[in-house]
Amino acid sequence: MPYAQITGWGMHVPARALTNENLVQMGVDTSHDWIASRTGIERRFVAGKDEATSDLAVKAAQEALLLAGTRPSEVDLILVATCTPDHIMPSTASLVQNRLGAENAGAMDINAACAGFVYALSVGAGQIESGRARQVLVIGADELSIYLNWRDRSTCVLFGDGAGAVLLRASDTPGVLASTTGSDGSGANLLMIPAGGSRIRMNGRAPAQKDRYLRMNGPQIFRWATQMMAKAAQKVITSSGLKPDQVTLVIPHQANLRIMEATAKRLGVSTEKVFSNVRNYGNTSAASIPIALCEAIGAGMVKPGDNIVLTSFGAGLSWSAVALRWNVEVPAHLPRWSPLRRQLEATMATLRSALRRQERAVRTTIEERLHRD
Ligand code: ACO
Repeated sequence: MPYAQITGWGMHVPARALTNENLVQMGVDTSHDWIASRTGIERRFVAGKDEATSDLAVKAAQEALLLAGTRPSEVDLILVATCTPDHIMPSTASLVQNRLGAENAGAMDINAACAGFVYALSVGAGQIESGRARQVLVIGADELSIYLNWRDRSTCVLFGDGAGAVLLRASDTPGVLASTTGSDGSGANLLMIPAGGSRIRMNGRAPAQKDRYLRMNGPQIFRWATQMMAKAAQKVITSSGLKPDQVTLVIPHQANLRIMEATAKRLGVSTEKVFSNVRNYGNTSAASIPIALCEAIGAGMVKPGDNIVLTSFGAGLSWSAVALRWNVEVPAHLPRWSPLRRQLEATMATLRSALRRQERAVRTTIEERLHRD
């Protein structure tokens, strides 16, 4: 059975940064001290008006493909973990597939909110292990800022936008060692965006504004998350046959520094082994773990032979964890021609997509005429 190994990684966040002080200046009834001391967050990035989830996802994915040395046409499957897709349909993954020019890839979205990326990693690894795919692009991308009520200080200070991606490739040497996914829908009411689906019907009218905002019972999620992330991590450590002291790095979902510290304590690992960058990005939902992984790699905290545990929680309630053995050398830098190749591939993909559209339109016109005659 082949292993699924991470061979490329990439991240992207929007250009616009919002510090805690900026939020205060915007009129949010909060303070830098409150946010920093209760959550660890100091800054987050917010997407511009014309910047959709797929725009962030494509940039992260291009970086991951370049690092892996994989052409878009060699990818078999694209999984986009997101709860803030560009549209209800088509999937954001299909939009990403088109923009990348990944013409041989299947594509689908996975929604497990903040736990989505690790869920998708588990699904992608399963496809490789079963022999159904050799290269799977797994992306976590979210823009929760769209659903924030900037007058609700209990939620709007927590979230940021971003995307992170990894390329999984079939390998003879161990990569993903174990994974777990879980759900407890009895907690669905604790964190939700009520409108936008089939439950709240529009009946010719727009849904009430309050139903379009993210709502959350923070304290209950907090209590549950401090237990759940550690439990999920423990489960994959045990099933991968690792001893806790063989784990070199834990990357938890970046929601709140206090939840991460509690997770470290429950797992019995020192906080130095638990990576956190929530300070600079806030909670980027499905993007949080791949962004953290990219930054941990950039900080020199990942080397071949390391055992890494990713553990996450989110709306659903849902949770997921993966234990993996890192097995690739981290290149000091990308080849100099990389940006050029990225640009070229993106241009080719746009041209190919435009040609396909034209071809479809022409064929439809011809078929309609033939039918009429
Ligand atoms: N600034 C100042 N005061 C605030 C703010 C703020 N931004 N937000 C809340 N407060 C006030 C409250 O009004 C309350 O005041 P009161 O005592 O006068 O009523 C007080 O602070 C305490 O509020 P709590 O909600 O009890 O604060 P808590 O210590 O629990 O921290 C927090 C709140 C940070 C939201 C915490 O509960 C938390 O992190 N929960 C987990 C949330 C989470 O991780 N969600 C993401 C899930 S992943 C996904 O799927 C998207």
